[in-house]
Order: sequence, then C-alpha cells, then structure tokens
Amino acid sequence: MADQAHVKDTLGRHLRDLRISVTDRCNLRCGYCMPADVFGPDHAFLPRKEILDYDEIAHLARVFAALGTRKLRITGGEPLLRRDLPELVALLRAVPGIDDIALTTNGLLLPAFARALKQAGLSRVTVSLDSLDDEVFGRMNGKGVGTAPVLKGIDAALAAGLTPLKINMVVKRGENDSEIEAMAERWRGTGIVLRYIEYMDVGTSNGWRLDDVMPAREIVARVRARWPLESADPNYPGEVADRWRYADGQGEIGVISSVTNTFCGDCTRARLSARGELFTCLFAGAGHDLKGPLRAGASEAKLRALIESIWQRREDRYSELRNANTTGLPKAEMSYLGG
Ligand code: GTP
Ligand code: 5AD
Ligand code: SF4
Ligand code: SF4
Repeated sequence: MADQAHVKDTLGRHLRDLRISVTDRCNLRCGYCMPADVFGPDHAFLPRKEILDYDEIAHLARVFAALGTRKLRITGGEPLLRRDLPELVALLRAVPGIDDIALTTNGLLLPAFARALKQAGLSRVTVSLDSLDDEVFGRMNGKGVGTAPVLKGIDAALAAGLTPLKINMVVKRGENDSEIEAMAERWRGTGIVLRYIEYMDVGTSNGWRLDDVMPAREIVARVRARWPLESADPNYPGEVADRWRYADGQGEIGVISSVTNTFCGDCTRARLSARGELFTCLFAGAGHDLKGPLRAGASEAKLRALIESIWQRREDRYSELRNANTTGLPKAEMSYLGG
C-alpha cells in the first residue's frame, strides 16, 4: 500500500493499531474495570441492534487498513462472550494489510474456543490474571472465581498455538502487590510474557486513587531483587510495555507504566467501540460515530475520508497531561470502549 495513504495526527502519529471492542459485557467484575456495585444485575448493557455486526466490523477494518492500520486487537468487555467470535476472526484475517490479530481475554472461555480461534486465523492471546492466590484473585475479579479456570484457559491457548502468549496483571497496592514475585516465579521460563500494569484512572466508576498505584519502578525493583534483570529494546516503535529480560535467560517481563512514565508520544492506537464509535484515546469522553454513516450506506471512500479527518485532528495525550486539570472530566468506561 502506498505510503502517502498512511494518515498522521497533529503530533505526527500514524494509525497503526486498531482495538476493536465486540461487547460491553463481561462474566467477571474486576474492581478496577467493572465494579460489581456499579455494573449490577440492573445495569443496562448495549442492546444487540446497537452493536456492530461482524460484517460491519470487517468493513471498517478494511477502511482502517487502507489508512495504514496493520495490527488488530479484539477486546471487550469479555470478547469471548460474543457469539461465534471465530467467524469475526476469519473475516478480519482476510483484510489485506493486517499482519497481527490479537485477543485480550480473561481466559475463562478459552478451553471452548482456543482451537477454533487459531483455525480462524487468530495470531495470539493476552490473558488477564492478577494473582495466583484464589482468595486474592476471587476478590479482585468480583465474582469469587478461582485461578483454576483461567489457568486451564492459558493451557488451552498454548496447546492451540496462540503464541506468544502474554499475561496482564493489574497491580493494585495493598490488594495484589504481594503477588508480584509469585507471578514472576510462576511464568518465568515458560515462554509466557508477564506484564505488570499500573492501575489506571480509566472510566469514572473504579474510584481510582493515586495511592493505590504501584509504580512500575517499584515493581521492577521487587522482581529484580530476586532475579537480576536487563533492560531490553522495544519489539516495535511505540510498544506500550517496557521490556526487561531475566539475566539468567529465563525469558522476560514487561511493565506498563501509563501513570508514572507515559507513552502518548508515539501512541498509534485507535479504538472502535462495540457501538461503532471511534475513540482516539483510552481516556476520551466520547467517540466519533462511524455506525451511522456505515448503516446509511456510506461508500468505502467516504468512510475513509471521515476517519482520516478525525485522525488528522487528533491531539490526545491524556496520560501526559494527567493532573488536576483532567480530574472530573467525563471519560468512557474501558469495558465499553475496549482496553
Ligand atoms: P502487544 O501488542 O502485545 O504489545 O500488546 P499491548 O502492549 O498493546 O498490550 P495490551 O493490549 O495487552 O494492553 C495492555 C494494557 O496496556 C492495557 O490493558 C492497558 O491497560 C494499557 N494500554 C494499552 N494501550 C494503551 C494506551 O493507548 N494508553 C494507555 N494509557 N494505556 C494503554
Ligand atoms: N487499570 C489498568 N489496567 C486495566 N485493565 C482494565 N482496567 C484497568 C485499569 N483501571 C486491564 C485489564 C486487561 C486489559 C484489557 O486492561 O486487566 O488485562
Ligand atoms: Fe472483565 Fe477484563 Fe474488565 Fe475484568 S478487566 S471486568 S475480565 S473486561
Ligand atoms: Fe494514547 Fe491516550 Fe493512552 Fe496517551 S492516554 S497513550 S494518547 S490512548
């Protein structure tokens, strides 16, 4: 594809990476994401007709690919709750220009779907797991679910070849930071990449406080005190995680420091909500409607011009600006716009 087709925003950032949320529902209720007291039995999730169908998603993905997008990530909520997800993967796999399709999941449904996802063309999965301790994990996921079903999901993904597999651990001070070393020990030497994520102020319902954030620097120091680490170069420009390799050759960990060491400068990520809105930042209050024009029959060229003009005006760098000026601003929930 010609290079001049690659759109840039006001800060010169390309649109390389599209994260597609396929549902706002989840079978867990992690306190940092969908706290059970906010997302209770009466919570109104999106009605089906509001949600993009698979052909619509694939159609938009083609338009994004024509603008330079090379990487797709399927997210939610919990994406495997969406019926027949492998069908979407197959449609996305057929989009010219896309070279990586990943899925972020809590792992519970991987035993049922891993093989079909692989067969449909999924490249790899990232599984969220915050602790190896059933009590800590059950408390954090808000449903009392133990670690065994997630570990089974990880095994199923490995058996299906959905690799390199990554594990996301959100670290909340006082809740699961005691698990930092145990998680490192469990996953080193397995080929799985464990990433520690700083607890972020996404959405407005998780009651975020800076005091609950364990800075990446502290996390690395704790792991390093047990197993010497060496800094490793990013796999690609703009990689979210900082990589650290075990000096004894037992693999690597990553830390995602979106609070204490921000990475907006080379943020090439766009997000498509289940409802078909384009969000240009994880912390945006609102998205740009793409479903309306799509359902009104806009041509591919028209959709492309629309997305191009939205991206060309993009100036988001929320994490860099995070301070008193941004508290209290409206922000969409992560389960809605996609992690
Ligand atoms: P790879 O393609 O494997 O490198 O994945 P990734 O680095 O994009 O990681 P993943 O999609 O698993 O994201 C991990 C976590 O990083 C997310 O859950 C968020 O918590 C955080 N994250 C990802 N993208 C952004 C972003 O654009 N801004 C901020 N602030 N955080 C992000
Ligand atoms: N802070 C940091 N990470 C979060 N995630 C969800 N909410 C938050 C938050 N408030 C992570 C999940 C999952 C990914 C999609 O985003 O753990 O791995
Ligand atoms: Fe569900 Fe993932 Fe959010 Fe937890 S972090 S509530 S598993 S979408
Ligand atoms: Fe990108 Fe917004 Fe995250 Fe900064 S805060 S890295 S602009 S999504």
